[in-house]
Amino acid sequence: MKIIVAGSINMDLVVRSEEIPKPGETVPGKDFTTIPGGKGANQAAAIAKLGGSCVFLGKVGNDDFGTSVLESMKASGINVDLVEKEKTSTGVSIINVDARGNNNIVFVAGANALVDEAYINRHINAFKDASMVVMQNEIPKETIRHILKVTRDMNIIRLLNPAPAMDIEDDMLKEIDILIPNEHELARLSKVTIDSKESVRAAAGLLLDRGLGRIIVTLGEHGAFYKDKEKEKFYTAYKANIVDTTAAGDSFIGGFCNSFVESGDIDKSIDFGQKTAAIAIGRFGAQTSIPSREEVLNFKPED
Ligand code: RIB
Repeated sequence: MKIIVAGSINMDLVVRSEEIPKPGETVPGKDFTTIPGGKGANQAAAIAKLGGSCVFLGKVGNDDFGTSVLESMKASGINVDLVEKEKTSTGVSIINVDARGNNNIVFVAGANALVDEAYINRHINAFKDASMVVMQNEIPKETIRHILKVTRDMNIIRLLNPAPAMDIEDDMLKEIDILIPNEHELARLSKVTIDSKESVRAAAGLLLDRGLGRIIVTLGEHGAFYKDKEKEKFYTAYKANIVDTTAAGDSFIGGFCNSFVESGDIDKSIDFGQKTAAIAIGRFGAQTSIPSREEVLNFKPED
C-alpha cells in the first residue's frame, strides 16, 4: 500500500538549554545540533521506518543541508526520487528544547515554499496507485488545495495535519478525509477555547458540521480523541519518559497512517500511532527519534 507524503523537508537547528529564553532574555545553552526534520519528512520517515512504502513529494535547496537531509530520508527507506532541488536554501527550523523536553520552533520555509501546482502536476502519476496522501501546512496552502482537487476522484485517503496552525476554508475542509490537529490547531480552526474534554468534542463537532470527514485530535499527555459522523472516543496516552517532544505528533501520524492503510481499523491505528509517539518522545531530535516497527511491536509503557 503506497503512501505519498507531499510536504516539507527541513534541517532542524536545535539548541538545548535548561530553560527556553523569554523575549529579551539570554540563557546559556547546553549544546547545538543539526538534525534532519520537517513535518513532512518526519512523517514520511515514520511511515518508512515502520515498514510502509512511502514516496515523497517536496523540494530542497541546492545547499549542504538539502544533501544531508535527503541522505537521511533515503536511509530511513523513503523513496525520494521525485524530490527536486531548487536554487535556494533548504527549509530550516530553529528549535529550542528545555530540560523537561518542551520546545518552541521557528520555521523558515526556503525551498518548501516552491512546492507548487506545476510541480504536483509534473508528478501526478505518482498518485495513481497510492492509497493515501499525507500533507501538512509547511508547504503552500494553494498546493494543498490543488492536491485535494486533483486527487478527488482517485480513491485515495486524503489526510491533512494542519501544522503550523492556520485557517482552513470550508471548500478545503470538505475534501479532507482525515484531519489530525493538536489542541492548539483545533482551537485555531474551530475558534473554540480548548480547555476540557467537552470543548474538544464540541470543536471537533463544529469541523465535522463544516464538511470534514473524520478528525483525530492529538492531546499530548491527555491522549487522543477521534470523531466521525457515527463514533467518538477518547484514548488514554501511554506513560512515557520525556526527553524531547519534537516530532511527537509526526511520529503519531506516521504510525497511524502505516497501520490504517493496512487495517482500516481506527482503534488499532490510533494505538499504533500512540506507541510510536511514546517511544519518539523518549529520544532526542526529530527523525533521529523515530522507532522501527520492531520497537513499536515490543513497546512496553512506563509504569
Ligand atoms: O514537527 C516537528 C518539526 O516541525 C520539526 O522537525 C521542524 O522541522 C518543524 O518543522
